[in-house]
Amino acid sequence: SSEKPTPKAERNFVKIMKEQGRQVIIFYGSQTGTAEDYAARLAKESSQKYNVSCMTADLELYDLSYLDTLPKECLAIFVLATYGEGEPTDNAVEFWDMLNDESVEFSQSESQSESDSGSPLSNLRFIVFGLGNKTYEHYNSVCRTVDKRLEQLGGTRVCERGEGDDDSSLEDDFLAWQETLWPAFCEAMGVDENPTSSGPRQPTYKVDELDSFENDLVYMGEISERPKDSTSAIVYDAKRPFAATVTSRELFFVKDRHCLHMEIDLGDSNLSYQTGDHIAIWPTNNEVQVKRLASILGLQDKLDRVVNVSSVDAAASKQHPFPVPTTYRTIFRHYLDICAIPSRQTLMSLVDFAPNDASRAFLQTLATDKEAYKSQVSEPVRNLGEVLELVARAGKLDQDQDQDRKTNTEANGNHSTKGAFEAVPFDLVVESISRLQPRYYSISSSSKESPRSISVTVVMLDYKPQKSNNERTVYGVATNYLWSIHAAVHELEKPVGYPDYVVAGPRGSYMNDDKSVVKVPVHVRRSQFKLPRNPTVPVIMVGPGTGVAPFRAFVRERAAQKLDKKPVGPTVLFFGCRHSQQDYLYADEWPGLFETLGEDSRIITAFSREHAEKVYVQHRLEQEGEEMWGLLERGAYVYVCGDAKSMAKDVQHTFTVIAQQYGNKTEEKAAEFIKSLRSTGRYQEDVW
Ligand code: 2AM
Repeated sequence: SSEKPTPKAERNFVKIMKEQGRQVIIFYGSQTGTAEDYAARLAKESSQKYNVSCMTADLELYDLSYLDTLPKECLAIFVLATYGEGEPTDNAVEFWDMLNDESVEFSQSESQSESDSGSPLSNLRFIVFGLGNKTYEHYNSVCRTVDKRLEQLGGTRVCERGEGDDDSSLEDDFLAWQETLWPAFCEAMGVDENPTSSGPRQPTYKVDELDSFENDLVYMGEISERPKDSTSAIVYDAKRPFAATVTSRELFFVKDRHCLHMEIDLGDSNLSYQTGDHIAIWPTNNEVQVKRLASILGLQDKLDRVVNVSSVDAAASKQHPFPVPTTYRTIFRHYLDICAIPSRQTLMSLVDFAPNDASRAFLQTLATDKEAYKSQVSEPVRNLGEVLELVARAGKLDQDQDQDRKTNTEANGNHSTKGAFEAVPFDLVVESISRLQPRYYSISSSSKESPRSISVTVVMLDYKPQKSNNERTVYGVATNYLWSIHAAVHELEKPVGYPDYVVAGPRGSYMNDDKSVVKVPVHVRRSQFKLPRNPTVPVIMVGPGTGVAPFRAFVRERAAQKLDKKPVGPTVLFFGCRHSQQDYLYADEWPGLFETLGEDSRIITAFSREHAEKVYVQHRLEQEGEEMWGLLERGAYVYVCGDAKSMAKDVQHTFTVIAQQYGNKTEEKAAEFIKSLRSTGRYQEDVW
């Protein structure tokens, strides 16, 4: 957004590198924190193992036009995620726009002679790693473009670009790539690839338990530090979310499936949104997982100790991983993503702290043997606490005499392994587990109709992993946190075994004693998923399940335009769910909206479990093929939202079938046609 204040901090990273004696800079373009973690891991390896001083850098905080002044002996590494339709992450937009500008200017461009102005980056040595997802059309396109562009501008690639696929295993791809990275890195930096002594572990953070502190200054879940000067207007973004008041109602509740409609009030904040944008919601971890991890680390009795956590490197750009001072409990509850599956590297770093030989051997196996990791960690979706419990049991460390505790199921936290990993230094825990990140939702309200209130449509996510030999239930972090808030306010009974969430507290996600105000930290993320500017253009929307969320917004927006006496083109929505009487989202709203829109607009439903055979949105689309082709010929825009894996692919396939059948195209031409729709913004996806 344009409201960002000009940072007072130094933006010339080359200057900073010189001052701090850094040889390598690792820039990250990160949305959910993974690229940032990867950058930190590379930096750590570089300085610890090879003694090459390294800094990580948030792309948004520096002026990349100084790339041309980076000395020849230095190295720039870029770790870049690709988002949605081949878009860069928010913090990489400025860099991305600069690099893609044909007449890009670097800091020395003016003083350069005509002859070498074509290669302004001739001094630059660089390496690129990308994070993407193969289920998306534009797989890793950001890192590919950057890699190519840096070379075009005269830079020297030190090592082949690496690409990670989040659809299979990002972590494995990252580890595999490092096998080619480090030899190339060492050669470039002139250091020994096999250092003889690796030395003891060098902590990234230091943790101090405080005996004296001011109670009011202890952070209890705030996401950012309190602004030092309160005179400037606060800009709410990914780094400083807004605590918004929320209200909710249940859209359906069938068996164990709950779906909520939540209204998020933007109040008097300067946040705004446009129809089709996403909203980020900052969740809280549940108490079962907080206790589980605290217990196995031997911290259960001092969860409320106040601690300070700071960077050992006094020059590091981030001095604290989260606001401090805070408490162990707050760190587990609000700051670390303790429900995530730990990486093999994280498990490896804990091997030295295993309590006995058997557990050490087992942990080492999980960390090094891909198959063991897959079958015992990633497929059963075990978080760090659960993996450590498993390891402790493998080391027969669960000899608990207390029968009550012993009979606790794994799902509820088996605390008989209490303290088994108490030797793990807490700074390593902070270093190994990512920061808890916001979760993004498609906005289901229209900004034209309700500019100050954003709605989301959230279905509770919980499942029993197939590859788990017991009955463990895995609870989606954010959806269950939101449902817990709803359940607390409406005093609903929770299902058996449902974990507790603390929805009271100073974090923002608090509840007044009278339950009148519930707040949740949020910020808005702009998206490209937008209705055509001209409302007369026809639109075809395909959104089964909660994939209908942005289309509720689209349909409401177009109905509002129509009520404004604007001419609005045909508006067709394909919606699918299991049963017309069970999970038909917003069933009561559609008739009125489509009546307003007129007779060439309608909702076409696919109820998958009402007949012997499955009926999906793509089947209904195919049946309506001729009419849909007619709309496409009139310039219709197509939108698909929901499951990326199978639905979005099947729907795209159906559109190519329609183009063949009614557009008289060969299979190849039909595929080209859909491709051209995509590249002109007439076929848009919001899929996950
Ligand atoms: P099912 O669960 O009966 O298989 C919303 O989740 C709807 O999308 C449900 O009706 C679900 O049907 C359906 N669905 C599941 N897989 C799908 C696919 N590959 N394509 C389209 N719809 C699908």
